[in-house]
Amino acid sequence: MLKKIFFIVFFFFFSNPNLFAVDEISLKEQNWTFDGVFGRYDKETLQRGLQVYQEVCSVCHGMKRLRFRELKDLGFNEEQIKAYAETFEIQDGPNDEGEMFLRPGEPSDSFVSPYRNKEEAKAAFGGAYPPDLSLLTKAYKNGPDYIYSLLTGYEENPPKDFDLPEGLYYNPYHDGNVIAMPPPLYDDAIEYIDGTDANLHQLSYDIVSFLNWAAEPELQKRKSLGLKVLLFLIVLTLLLYVTMKEIWARIEK
Ligand code: HEC
Repeated sequence: MLKKIFFIVFFFFFSNPNLFAVDEISLKEQNWTFDGVFGRYDKETLQRGLQVYQEVCSVCHGMKRLRFRELKDLGFNEEQIKAYAETFEIQDGPNDEGEMFLRPGEPSDSFVSPYRNKEEAKAAFGGAYPPDLSLLTKAYKNGPDYIYSLLTGYEENPPKDFDLPEGLYYNPYHDGNVIAMPPPLYDDAIEYIDGTDANLHQLSYDIVSFLNWAAEPELQKRKSLGLKVLLFLIVLTLLLYVTMKEIWARIEK
């Protein structure tokens, strides 16, 4: 009986909900540091991810739900965050004369979007829209694996009989196998501050980890709570089992 309970509890927590899902093209599944019951974010990975966002993705994509002060989760102190925020120009206003004005960023500001609005962004890409990245890992099934696969899945030469429209790129992980985003990452696309080898896998792994943190900064707390509840249930089950044994032992005598 006890074995069964354990089995059910463990199966429930450790089983993969996507076990039976069938995909057209299988995603490149990664070993994320934030996967599983012991999932954690790795600060160094997240810091590198921020650098990738800053130097590459932010040219086209906003992250408007992310505030500078939240970067303390990545291990930055208040002064560092203030200095970082100040490197951005934020539009504010109106002032006493009714004019909008620019001022240096503050820790409570959100990340700045590269386009003033959706229409301007769309106009820049022939109608395709570079979505805001704040919550994107949650927008797709297996979001982190999907975005990783997309970033590493570009193919220079589409299959022979494939008719690639002008200005689009071949990527088997995207709907219809074409995408309007030019391949943003490649080996040594940037130089990491911490000296890590910036190959395509590393760059993609780091940016996706960063995006997942931005979408779900509470993950770590949630998982450690889950673990505590699980431990509590196990202890409770054991106690109940021992108590039952005692009671029955007395009755059987
Ligand atoms: C030169 C501009 C540009 C850069 C730089 C860029 N993107 Fe994009 N991105 C786009 C455009 C345009 C689209 C919309 C593509 C479409 O709908 O065909 C897009 C779409 C996406 C999507 C959505 C894909 C989907 O299935 O809907 C993701 C995810 C994404 N970009 C991630 C990134 C990441 C991460 C980076 C940085 C490493 C990045 N992008 C850099 C222009 C860019």
